Amino acid sequence: MQAVQIRPNIYWVGAIDWSMRNFHGYQTGRGSTYNAYLIIDGENVTLIDTVKAEFADELISRISSVIDPAKINLIVSSHVEPDHSSALPIVAKIVPDAKIVTSNPNGLKGLTARYGNLNYQPVKAGDEIKIGSRTLKFVPTPMLHWPDSMVTYCPEEKILFSNDAFGQHLATSARFDDENDLETILFEAKKYYANILMPFGKQAQAAIQTLGGLEIEMLATGHGIIWRKNISTIIECYKKWSAGEVENRAVIVFDSMWHSTEIMAREITEAFQSKNIPAQFFDIKHNHLSDIVTEIFTSKYLAVGSPTINNGMMPTIASLLCYLKGLQPKNHRAFAFGSYGWGGQSIGLVEDELKSIGCEIFVDKIRIANVPTKEQLDEMSKKIQDALGAE
Ligand code: FEO
Repeated sequence: MQAVQIRPNIYWVGAIDWSMRNFHGYQTGRGSTYNAYLIIDGENVTLIDTVKAEFADELISRISSVIDPAKINLIVSSHVEPDHSSALPIVAKIVPDAKIVTSNPNGLKGLTARYGNLNYQPVKAGDEIKIGSRTLKFVPTPMLHWPDSMVTYCPEEKILFSNDAFGQHLATSARFDDENDLETILFEAKKYYANILMPFGKQAQAAIQTLGGLEIEMLATGHGIIWRKNISTIIECYKKWSAGEVENRAVIVFDSMWHSTEIMAREITEAFQSKNIPAQFFDIKHNHLSDIVTEIFTSKYLAVGSPTINNGMMPTIASLLCYLKGLQPKNHRAFAFGSYGWGGQSIGLVEDELKSIGCEIFVDKIRIANVPTKEQLDEMSKKIQDALGAE
Protein backbone atom coordinates (compact mmCIF):
# COMPACT_ATOMS: atom_id res chain seq x y z
CA MET A 1 0.00 0.00 0.00
CA GLN A 2 1.33 3.41 -0.95
CA ALA A 3 1.14 6.77 0.76
CA VAL A 4 -0.23 9.60 -1.40
CA GLN A 5 1.81 12.81 -1.33
CA ILE A 6 -0.49 15.80 -0.84
CA ARG A 7 2.31 18.38 -0.39
CA PRO A 8 6.09 17.97 -0.29
CA ASN A 9 6.76 15.77 2.77
CA ILE A 10 3.07 15.55 3.67
CA TYR A 11 1.22 12.35 2.86
CA TRP A 12 -2.21 10.81 3.09
CA VAL A 13 -1.72 7.46 4.84
CA GLY A 14 -5.31 6.49 5.62
CA ALA A 15 -7.46 3.51 4.74
CA ILE A 16 -10.22 2.95 2.19
CA ASP A 17 -13.23 1.04 3.46
CA TRP A 18 -14.86 0.11 0.16
CA SER A 19 -17.39 -2.24 1.75
CA MET A 20 -18.79 -0.27 4.70
CA ARG A 21 -22.54 0.07 4.18
CA ASN A 22 -23.78 0.97 7.65
CA PHE A 23 -22.50 3.59 10.07
CA HIS A 24 -24.72 3.53 13.18
CA GLY A 25 -27.75 2.94 10.99
CA TYR A 26 -26.72 5.56 8.41
CA GLN A 27 -26.64 3.71 5.08
CA THR A 28 -23.28 4.43 3.48
CA GLY A 29 -23.81 3.21 -0.06
CA ARG A 30 -20.44 4.40 -1.30
CA GLY A 31 -18.28 3.13 1.59
CA SER A 32 -15.90 5.50 3.36
CA THR A 33 -12.29 6.33 4.08
CA TYR A 34 -10.51 6.91 7.38
CA ASN A 35 -8.03 9.64 6.56
CA ALA A 36 -4.73 9.89 8.38
CA TYR A 37 -1.84 12.19 7.45
CA LEU A 38 1.90 12.02 7.91
CA ILE A 39 4.15 15.10 8.08
CA ILE A 40 7.88 14.53 7.80
CA ASP A 41 9.83 17.62 8.85
CA GLY A 42 13.48 16.73 9.42
CA GLU A 43 13.64 14.57 12.53
CA ASN A 44 10.03 15.35 13.36
CA VAL A 45 7.56 12.80 12.10
CA THR A 46 3.94 13.53 12.93
CA LEU A 47 0.93 11.33 12.36
CA ILE A 48 -2.42 13.12 12.33
CA ASP A 49 -5.13 10.63 13.30
CA THR A 50 -5.20 6.90 12.80
CA VAL A 51 -7.87 4.62 11.31
CA LYS A 52 -10.41 2.01 12.38
CA ALA A 53 -8.49 -0.80 14.11
CA GLU A 54 -9.25 -3.42 11.46
CA PHE A 55 -7.46 -1.19 8.93
CA ALA A 56 -4.31 -0.70 11.06
CA ASP A 57 -2.22 -2.84 8.68
CA GLU A 58 -3.22 -0.58 5.79
CA LEU A 59 -2.19 2.50 7.77
CA ILE A 60 1.17 1.00 8.78
CA SER A 61 1.79 -0.21 5.24
CA ARG A 62 1.15 3.23 3.74
CA ILE A 63 3.38 4.91 6.35
CA SER A 64 6.10 2.31 5.67
CA SER A 65 6.07 3.22 1.97
CA VAL A 66 7.68 6.58 2.88
CA ILE A 67 9.34 6.14 6.29
CA ASP A 68 9.91 3.62 9.06
CA PRO A 69 6.83 3.96 11.34
CA ALA A 70 9.17 3.66 14.35
CA LYS A 71 10.33 7.22 13.50
CA ILE A 72 6.94 8.77 14.37
CA ASN A 73 7.46 10.97 17.41
CA LEU A 74 4.15 12.84 17.57
CA ILE A 75 0.58 11.65 17.06
CA VAL A 76 -2.36 14.03 16.93
CA SER A 77 -5.67 12.43 17.90
CA SER A 78 -8.36 14.83 16.70
CA HIS A 79 -11.32 12.77 17.83
CA VAL A 80 -11.89 9.83 20.15
CA GLU A 81 -14.54 8.10 18.00
CA PRO A 82 -13.06 4.70 17.09
CA ASP A 83 -13.20 5.21 13.31
CA HIS A 84 -10.26 7.59 13.87
CA SER A 85 -8.70 6.34 17.08
CA SER A 86 -9.06 2.57 17.41
CA ALA A 87 -5.74 1.92 15.63
CA LEU A 88 -4.05 4.34 18.07
CA PRO A 89 -2.99 1.67 20.62
CA ILE A 90 -1.53 -0.39 17.75
CA VAL A 91 0.57 2.57 16.58
CA ALA A 92 1.44 3.45 20.19
CA LYS A 93 2.90 -0.06 20.62
CA ILE A 94 5.32 0.66 17.77
CA VAL A 95 6.24 4.11 19.13
CA PRO A 96 5.56 4.06 22.89
CA ASP A 97 7.54 7.27 23.42
CA ALA A 98 5.62 9.33 20.84
CA LYS A 99 3.46 12.02 22.43
CA ILE A 100 -0.25 11.71 21.68
CA VAL A 101 -1.84 15.15 21.40
CA THR A 102 -5.49 15.26 22.39
CA SER A 103 -7.98 17.87 23.54
CA ASN A 104 -8.18 18.73 27.22
CA PRO A 105 -10.14 17.49 29.09
CA ASN A 106 -12.53 15.54 26.84
CA GLY A 107 -10.06 13.95 24.43
CA LEU A 108 -7.85 12.94 27.34
CA LYS A 109 -10.79 11.43 29.24
CA GLY A 110 -12.15 9.62 26.18
CA LEU A 111 -8.83 8.15 25.03
CA THR A 112 -7.90 7.10 28.58
CA ALA A 113 -11.27 5.38 29.03
CA ARG A 114 -10.85 3.44 25.80
CA TYR A 115 -7.12 2.74 25.61
CA GLY A 116 -5.73 3.28 29.12
CA ASN A 117 -2.77 5.42 30.04
CA LEU A 118 -0.78 6.15 26.91
CA ASN A 119 1.70 8.99 26.47
CA TYR A 120 -0.90 11.77 26.21
CA GLN A 121 -0.21 15.47 25.78
CA PRO A 122 -3.49 17.32 26.37
CA VAL A 123 -3.87 20.66 24.55
CA LYS A 124 -6.34 23.53 24.74
CA ALA A 125 -7.48 26.27 22.36
CA GLY A 126 -4.55 28.28 21.02
CA ASP A 127 -1.86 25.78 21.98
CA GLU A 128 0.69 25.07 19.28
CA ILE A 129 3.58 22.70 18.74
CA LYS A 130 6.59 23.32 16.47
CA ILE A 131 7.41 20.29 14.36
CA GLY A 132 10.65 21.40 12.69
CA SER A 133 9.95 24.18 10.19
CA ARG A 134 6.19 23.78 10.57
CA THR A 135 3.74 24.59 13.33
CA LEU A 136 0.58 22.79 14.40
CA LYS A 137 -2.13 24.94 16.01
CA PHE A 138 -4.98 23.22 17.80
CA VAL A 139 -8.55 24.44 17.65
CA PRO A 140 -11.14 22.62 19.77
CA THR A 141 -14.50 22.18 18.02
CA PRO A 142 -16.56 20.76 20.92
CA MET A 143 -19.76 18.96 19.92
CA LEU A 144 -18.81 18.99 16.28
CA HIS A 145 -19.75 16.33 16.87
CA TRP A 146 -18.33 14.89 20.13
CA PRO A 147 -17.15 16.88 23.17
CA ASP A 148 -13.53 16.00 22.38
CA SER A 149 -13.53 17.00 18.69
CA MET A 150 -10.60 19.16 17.60
CA VAL A 151 -9.07 20.37 14.34
CA THR A 152 -5.44 21.20 13.59
CA TYR A 153 -4.12 24.04 11.45
CA CYS A 154 -0.69 24.21 9.88
CA PRO A 155 -0.12 27.89 8.94
CA GLU A 156 3.05 27.30 6.89
CA GLU A 157 1.11 24.93 4.60
CA LYS A 158 -2.31 26.60 4.98
CA ILE A 159 -3.76 23.15 5.60
CA LEU A 160 -6.63 22.55 8.01
CA PHE A 161 -6.84 18.96 9.22
CA SER A 162 -10.56 19.05 9.86
CA ASN A 163 -11.39 15.48 10.92
CA ASP A 164 -15.17 14.84 10.63
CA ALA A 165 -16.00 18.41 9.54
CA PHE A 166 -16.40 18.79 5.76
CA GLY A 167 -16.09 15.01 5.34
CA GLN A 168 -18.13 12.50 3.40
CA HIS A 169 -18.64 8.76 3.62
CA LEU A 170 -17.21 8.14 0.18
CA ALA A 171 -14.63 5.55 -0.85
CA THR A 172 -12.68 6.58 -3.95
CA SER A 173 -9.32 5.75 -5.46
CA ALA A 174 -8.43 9.43 -6.03
CA ARG A 175 -7.85 11.60 -3.00
CA PHE A 176 -8.77 15.13 -4.08
CA ASP A 177 -12.08 16.86 -4.85
CA ASP A 178 -10.96 17.90 -8.35
CA GLU A 179 -10.15 14.27 -9.22
CA ASN A 180 -13.70 13.11 -8.49
CA ASP A 181 -17.23 14.02 -9.50
CA LEU A 182 -18.14 17.18 -7.55
CA GLU A 183 -21.88 16.50 -7.58
CA THR A 184 -21.35 13.11 -5.95
CA ILE A 185 -18.99 14.57 -3.34
CA LEU A 186 -21.41 17.38 -2.46
CA PHE A 187 -24.31 14.93 -2.20
CA GLU A 188 -22.31 12.72 0.16
CA ALA A 189 -21.12 15.77 2.15
CA LYS A 190 -24.76 16.84 2.55
CA LYS A 191 -25.82 13.32 3.53
CA TYR A 192 -22.99 13.23 6.09
CA TYR A 193 -24.01 16.61 7.52
CA ALA A 194 -27.70 15.66 7.61
CA ASN A 195 -27.17 12.33 9.33
CA ILE A 196 -24.32 13.21 11.70
CA LEU A 197 -23.96 16.95 12.17
CA MET A 198 -27.54 18.26 11.82
CA PRO A 199 -28.14 18.59 15.58
CA PHE A 200 -24.98 20.67 15.97
CA GLY A 201 -25.72 23.68 13.76
CA LYS A 202 -24.80 26.21 16.46
CA GLN A 203 -21.48 24.50 17.11
CA ALA A 204 -20.82 24.31 13.35
CA GLN A 205 -21.46 28.04 13.03
CA ALA A 206 -19.14 28.78 15.94
CA ALA A 207 -16.44 26.64 14.33
CA ILE A 208 -16.86 28.34 10.94
CA GLN A 209 -16.57 31.70 12.72
CA THR A 210 -13.37 30.62 14.47
CA LEU A 211 -11.87 29.13 11.34
CA GLY A 212 -13.03 32.04 9.19
CA GLY A 213 -9.88 34.03 9.95
CA LEU A 214 -7.57 31.29 8.70
CA GLU A 215 -6.10 31.16 5.22
CA ILE A 216 -6.97 27.68 4.01
CA GLU A 217 -5.62 26.16 0.81
CA MET A 218 -6.40 22.57 1.71
CA LEU A 219 -9.10 21.02 3.88
CA ALA A 220 -7.73 17.63 4.83
CA THR A 221 -10.82 15.85 6.10
CA GLY A 222 -11.17 12.72 8.19
CA HIS A 223 -13.46 11.01 5.66
CA GLY A 224 -13.73 11.01 1.89
CA ILE A 225 -11.92 13.39 -0.40
CA ILE A 226 -9.53 16.23 0.50
CA TRP A 227 -10.77 19.67 -0.59
CA ARG A 228 -8.29 21.82 -2.51
CA LYS A 229 -10.25 23.30 -5.43
CA ASN A 230 -13.78 23.76 -4.06
CA ILE A 231 -13.00 24.91 -0.52
CA SER A 232 -15.25 27.98 -0.69
CA THR A 233 -18.09 25.82 -2.10
CA ILE A 234 -18.08 23.40 0.83
CA ILE A 235 -17.66 26.21 3.37
CA GLU A 236 -20.66 28.03 1.85
CA CYS A 237 -22.64 24.78 2.04
CA TYR A 238 -21.71 24.43 5.73
CA LYS A 239 -22.82 28.02 6.37
CA LYS A 240 -26.24 27.28 4.83
CA TRP A 241 -26.64 23.87 6.40
CA SER A 242 -25.63 25.03 9.87
CA ALA A 243 -28.06 27.96 9.62
CA GLY A 244 -30.88 25.49 8.82
CA GLU A 245 -31.59 27.15 5.46
CA VAL A 246 -34.34 25.36 3.56
CA GLU A 247 -35.39 25.46 -0.10
CA ASN A 248 -38.89 25.78 -1.51
CA ARG A 249 -39.24 22.03 -1.94
CA ALA A 250 -41.41 19.31 -0.43
CA VAL A 251 -40.89 15.79 0.83
CA ILE A 252 -43.81 13.38 0.97
CA VAL A 253 -43.02 10.28 2.97
CA PHE A 254 -45.47 7.54 3.85
CA ASP A 255 -46.13 3.90 4.48
CA SER A 256 -49.23 2.18 3.20
CA MET A 257 -50.93 -1.17 3.83
CA TRP A 258 -53.40 -1.49 0.93
CA HIS A 259 -52.42 1.60 -1.14
CA SER A 260 -55.01 4.08 0.20
CA THR A 261 -52.39 6.21 2.01
CA GLU A 262 -50.21 5.83 -1.09
CA ILE A 263 -53.04 7.21 -3.28
CA MET A 264 -53.23 10.20 -0.91
CA ALA A 265 -49.43 10.63 -1.11
CA ARG A 266 -49.55 10.74 -4.92
CA GLU A 267 -52.28 13.39 -4.83
CA ILE A 268 -50.34 15.43 -2.25
CA THR A 269 -47.26 15.29 -4.48
CA GLU A 270 -49.38 16.67 -7.35
CA ALA A 271 -50.75 19.41 -5.10
CA PHE A 272 -47.24 20.67 -4.33
CA GLN A 273 -46.24 20.43 -7.99
CA SER A 274 -49.33 22.41 -9.03
CA LYS A 275 -47.91 25.26 -6.93
CA ASN A 276 -44.50 24.89 -8.65
CA ILE A 277 -42.98 23.35 -5.55
CA PRO A 278 -40.72 20.43 -6.50
CA ALA A 279 -41.75 17.39 -4.47
CA GLN A 280 -39.86 14.23 -3.63
CA PHE A 281 -41.98 11.11 -3.06
CA PHE A 282 -40.69 8.46 -0.64
CA ASP A 283 -42.46 5.17 -0.02
CA ILE A 284 -40.65 4.33 3.20
CA LYS A 285 -40.63 0.62 2.34
CA HIS A 286 -38.30 1.29 -0.58
CA ASN A 287 -36.08 4.06 0.79
CA HIS A 288 -33.58 4.24 3.61
CA LEU A 289 -34.10 6.65 6.52
CA SER A 290 -30.70 8.25 5.95
CA ASP A 291 -31.63 9.15 2.36
CA ILE A 292 -35.06 10.43 3.39
CA VAL A 293 -33.67 12.73 6.11
CA THR A 294 -31.02 14.04 3.68
CA GLU A 295 -33.86 15.28 1.48
CA ILE A 296 -36.01 16.52 4.39
CA PHE A 297 -33.02 18.46 5.77
CA THR A 298 -33.13 21.15 3.07
CA SER A 299 -36.83 20.97 2.10
CA LYS A 300 -39.22 23.53 3.55
CA TYR A 301 -42.29 21.28 3.40
CA LEU A 302 -42.85 17.83 4.82
CA ALA A 303 -45.94 15.61 4.59
CA VAL A 304 -45.87 12.38 6.60
CA GLY A 305 -48.49 9.69 6.06
CA SER A 306 -49.38 6.55 7.94
CA PRO A 307 -52.40 4.29 8.00
CA THR A 308 -53.55 3.13 11.42
CA ILE A 309 -52.34 -0.22 12.67
CA ASN A 310 -53.09 -1.59 16.14
CA ASN A 311 -54.35 1.85 17.23
CA GLY A 312 -51.04 3.49 16.30
CA MET A 313 -48.84 4.49 13.38
CA MET A 314 -46.81 2.11 11.22
CA PRO A 315 -43.50 1.21 12.95
CA THR A 316 -41.61 2.38 9.85
CA ILE A 317 -43.03 5.89 10.25
CA ALA A 318 -42.45 5.81 14.02
CA SER A 319 -38.82 4.96 13.28
CA LEU A 320 -38.46 7.90 10.86
CA LEU A 321 -40.01 10.32 13.34
CA CYS A 322 -37.80 9.03 16.17
CA TYR A 323 -34.68 9.45 14.00
CA LEU A 324 -35.79 12.89 12.86
CA LYS A 325 -36.47 14.03 16.42
CA GLY A 326 -32.89 13.25 17.43
CA LEU A 327 -31.54 15.19 14.45
CA GLN A 328 -33.49 18.32 15.51
CA PRO A 329 -34.35 19.58 12.01
CA LYS A 330 -35.08 23.31 11.69
CA ASN A 331 -37.53 25.49 9.77
CA HIS A 332 -39.90 22.87 8.39
CA ARG A 333 -43.61 23.27 7.71
CA ALA A 334 -45.45 20.00 7.87
CA PHE A 335 -48.67 18.03 8.04
CA ALA A 336 -49.86 14.49 8.69
CA PHE A 337 -52.11 12.38 6.52
CA GLY A 338 -53.36 8.83 6.20
CA SER A 339 -56.23 6.50 5.53
CA TYR A 340 -57.79 4.20 8.10
CA GLY A 341 -60.39 1.45 8.38
CA TRP A 342 -61.69 2.32 11.83
CA GLY A 343 -60.25 4.35 14.71
CA GLY A 344 -57.72 6.32 12.64
CA GLN A 345 -55.52 7.32 15.59
CA SER A 346 -52.27 7.24 13.60
CA ILE A 347 -52.77 10.55 11.84
CA GLY A 348 -53.16 12.53 15.07
CA LEU A 349 -50.18 10.73 16.55
CA VAL A 350 -48.04 11.62 13.53
CA GLU A 351 -49.16 15.25 13.80
CA ASP A 352 -48.28 15.32 17.52
CA GLU A 353 -44.82 13.93 16.75
CA LEU A 354 -44.24 16.48 13.98
CA LYS A 355 -45.09 19.23 16.47
CA SER A 356 -42.78 17.79 19.10
CA ILE A 357 -39.97 17.66 16.51
CA GLY A 358 -40.46 21.40 16.06
CA CYS A 359 -42.28 21.46 12.71
CA GLU A 360 -44.91 24.15 12.12
CA ILE A 361 -48.18 22.47 11.19
CA PHE A 362 -49.55 24.40 8.19
CA VAL A 363 -52.39 22.01 7.22
CA ASP A 364 -54.57 20.25 9.79
CA LYS A 365 -54.19 16.49 9.77
CA ILE A 366 -55.92 14.84 6.81
CA ARG A 367 -57.76 11.61 7.56
CA ILE A 368 -59.70 9.58 4.97
CA ALA A 369 -61.63 6.44 5.89
CA ASN A 370 -61.17 3.36 3.73
CA VAL A 371 -60.34 4.03 0.04
CA PRO A 372 -60.17 7.72 -0.94
CA THR A 373 -62.81 8.84 -3.43
CA LYS A 374 -62.09 11.35 -6.21
CA GLU A 375 -64.14 13.96 -4.31
CA GLN A 376 -62.14 13.39 -1.13
CA LEU A 377 -58.85 13.63 -3.03
CA ASP A 378 -59.98 16.84 -4.76
CA GLU A 379 -61.02 18.31 -1.42
CA MET A 380 -57.65 17.33 0.14
CA SER A 381 -55.76 18.78 -2.79
CA LYS A 382 -57.66 22.07 -2.56
CA LYS A 383 -56.99 22.29 1.17
CA ILE A 384 -53.24 21.90 0.58
CA GLN A 385 -53.17 24.30 -2.37
CA ASP A 386 -55.11 26.90 -0.35
CA ALA A 387 -52.70 26.57 2.54
CA LEU A 388 -49.72 26.92 0.17
CA GLY A 389 -51.41 29.90 -1.46
CA ALA A 390 -51.69 31.57 1.94
CA GLU A 391 -47.98 31.08 2.71
FE1 FEO B 1 -15.58 10.02 11.87
FE2 FEO B 1 -17.08 11.14 14.65
O1 FEO B 1 -16.01 10.00 13.68
